[in-house]
Amino acid sequence: MPESVAILEVTGLRKSFGTLEVLRGIDLTVRAQELVFVIGPSGSGKSTLLRCCNRLEEPNEGSIRVDGVELLDPKTDINAMRQRIGMVFQSFNLYPHMTVLANVTLALRKALGKGREEARAIGEAALARVDLADKSSAYPAQLSGGQQQRVAIARAMALEPKIMLFDEPTSSLDPELVGSVLAVMRELRQDGMTMVVVSHEMRFARDAADRVVFMDAGQIVEQGPPDRIFGAPQHARTQSFLADFAA
Ligand SMILES: Nc1ncnc2c1ncn2[C@@H]1O[C@H](COP(=O)(O)OP(=O)(O)OP(=O)(O)O)[C@@H](O)[C@H]1O
Ligand SMILES: [Mg+2]
Repeated sequence: MPESVAILEVTGLRKSFGTLEVLRGIDLTVRAQELVFVIGPSGSGKSTLLRCCNRLEEPNEGSIRVDGVELLDPKTDINAMRQRIGMVFQSFNLYPHMTVLANVTLALRKALGKGREEARAIGEAALARVDLADKSSAYPAQLSGGQQQRVAIARAMALEPKIMLFDEPTSSLDPELVGSVLAVMRELRQDGMTMVVVSHEMRFARDAADRVVFMDAGQIVEQGPPDRIFGAPQHARTQSFLADFAA
């Protein structure tokens, strides 16, 4: 089988906030259907990296290609590209005054110009995939945190993104709700979605990730298969991070 195509190619990425250099030359390639897990200490630049990948932050230098399109090219239609890049955050950012289905179909209607019935059909299918078919007319406040996060995932999936970026999708959830969100992410992976996940769910990383990337101080220190990164980390900084984590 030929090596699968690169969906996300980050090269020489640099980002500063004032005098603080937060990303110091990141190179990262994510191939079709890969699940890449990003770990690292607080402040190491993980969220900034994800946010640069749909230009919620403007990088200072480097290249970010998504599905072959350079995001940093001024000629690129960034709004069109953002529809191809699903983003799921720690806070679900659902509209409280809109039903679950309306939240999921909003971008389909406003950004993709789908009609009401087509948007509804796509939205209902996306909700079924996250096991929430019966909640389409509920309001976010009537759902558990885990259910709300699954709605946020359905909203991103409904746009049929090329890649999904997850920034600590389970860290605001009560422990008993984490599993349902991880189960949905596992199914997405089995369905062939390309995913980058920033998370502290190391056990999930161990059994679901294709590759684990360890970041520290704005750089990728090492990366590899989960067994190697967790079982035999090469760099002292990775070792000490994982040791602190286990403690
Ligand atoms: N908008 C901003 N303005 C100024 N500094 C920022 C901004 N966003 C992030 N930073 C700084 O950039 C650094 C990296 O932040 P980032 O949020 O990317 O880290 P992180 O690895 O996601 O950390 P955590 O694990 O705590 O979420 C931090 O020092 C942070 O204070
Ligand atoms: Mg973060």
